[in-house]
Amino acid sequence: MEVKVVKKRIVLVPVPAQGHVTPIMQLGKALDLKGFSITVVQTQNNRVSSSKDFSDFQFLTIPDSLPESDLKTLGPLKFMIKLNQTCEASFKQCLGQLLKEQSNAHDIACVVYDEYMYFSEAAAKEFQLPSVVFSTTNATAFVCRSVIAKVNAEKFSIDMKDPKIQDKVFPGLHPLRYKDLPTSAFGPLESTLKIYIETVNVRTSSAVIINSASCLERLSLARLQQELQVPVYPIGPLHIAASAPSSLLEEDRSCIEWLNKQKPSSVIYISLGSLALMETKDVLEMARGLSNSNQPFLWVIRPGSIPASEWTESLPEEFSKLVSERGYIVKWAPQMEVLKHPAVGGFWSHCGWNSTLESIGEGVPMICRPFTGDQRVNARYLESVWRIGVQLEGELEKRTVERAVKSLLVDEEGAEMRKRAIDLKEKLEASARSGGSSCSSLEYFVNSLKMKNS
Ligand code: UDX
Repeated sequence: MEVKVVKKRIVLVPVPAQGHVTPIMQLGKALDLKGFSITVVQTQNNRVSSSKDFSDFQFLTIPDSLPESDLKTLGPLKFMIKLNQTCEASFKQCLGQLLKEQSNAHDIACVVYDEYMYFSEAAAKEFQLPSVVFSTTNATAFVCRSVIAKVNAEKFSIDMKDPKIQDKVFPGLHPLRYKDLPTSAFGPLESTLKIYIETVNVRTSSAVIINSASCLERLSLARLQQELQVPVYPIGPLHIAASAPSSLLEEDRSCIEWLNKQKPSSVIYISLGSLALMETKDVLEMARGLSNSNQPFLWVIRPGSIPASEWTESLPEEFSKLVSERGYIVKWAPQMEVLKHPAVGGFWSHCGWNSTLESIGEGVPMICRPFTGDQRVNARYLESVWRIGVQLEGELEKRTVERAVKSLLVDEEGAEMRKRAIDLKEKLEASARSGGSSCSSLEYFVNSLKMKNS
């Protein structure tokens, strides 16, 4: 008689945004490979389910009662606060239904929720299901958020935005300066604080998973572990552990053909992630500097990322002329494939954590131009700790752009950065291999679930 083995189920709750969907789906794939069934509970704005790469995942949608336009009108932080208020009841209902359908209530091993979907914890608790926080940022940014939340509790004894202190190192967070802290440009300080207090509070959740590795931030991970009352599992970079394509936008693959025609390590790849917006004057200074650098460039300009433009049509003719000389523009690129390409010698990035990990994972040095939140922390670490990046601070100006591109792609300084980036890439790969720190951390997490559920 055939005995049917019932796999334990893990329920994932992603934030409906590319930079969050990508790592949580990779986590889902990694856990799927460890023998779990995966259910993804998404809000109406997520569209991952159409992908054939997740054909054995179950996808459930909960109503969030928020029109898509709210993201634009409220801004990401207020949107997230509202999403957490509107989703709690519908998620409870969804979990209740899922439990009814299981042959055994213990078939659900746990709920893993993105730290910004903190409403999930209450629902898991109601059904006595273990819950686990998944942080898509790194441990250093987590520590910073926790520090900012504490400063707030001390009733703003420090004015975080005081221009006189911006270049000073923040006590206890060396080498981060006040201006590197993840205070957000996405909304007022009040919303930033509210969401930081929520995301650093693990409540009754039993663990925190971080998409990072100890070779990148050993001290911050140790500090975080000391601060939190629950185990912290650094299991990244997840894109090395389990590839799981989950692009929400259509990738333009023509850029790979263009890259095929370029010389090795000659191209600067430019992409500012899925949310950052650009000022028209900065776009023009970038185009002038890139053109003057004499290096070829592949530039991702997301539709809607330049004010008053569907795409690039509001830019003056000068822009198209500069680009046509040695550049190629797409709306969205297959980024991981681009970073792997031998023609790519540098990455100009907003330093989102996924982009940072993907670039380090390919040994590609970076030009860092952070916009908001944890991107500033990542940029500072890229320049001052890992020493594989050049940060562009202050007003963007064509001469500084030209200098940065040349220093990365032409000068000795860039060659040194590339060597260090390759060294770090090897360390990251080793941490994801069997016996490596991230691989072992994932094993510990899986074993902890098995013990809880036995
Ligand atoms: C945001 C934050 O910036 C990030 O730090 C946080 O941890 C998650 O949310 P985002 O700004 O979109 O994310 O940047 P990033 O984290 O770099 O994620 C962007 C993802 O989109 C990357 O995985 C990247 O490979 C992908 N991408 C980007 C593409 O596939 N094609 C592109 O053209 C551009």
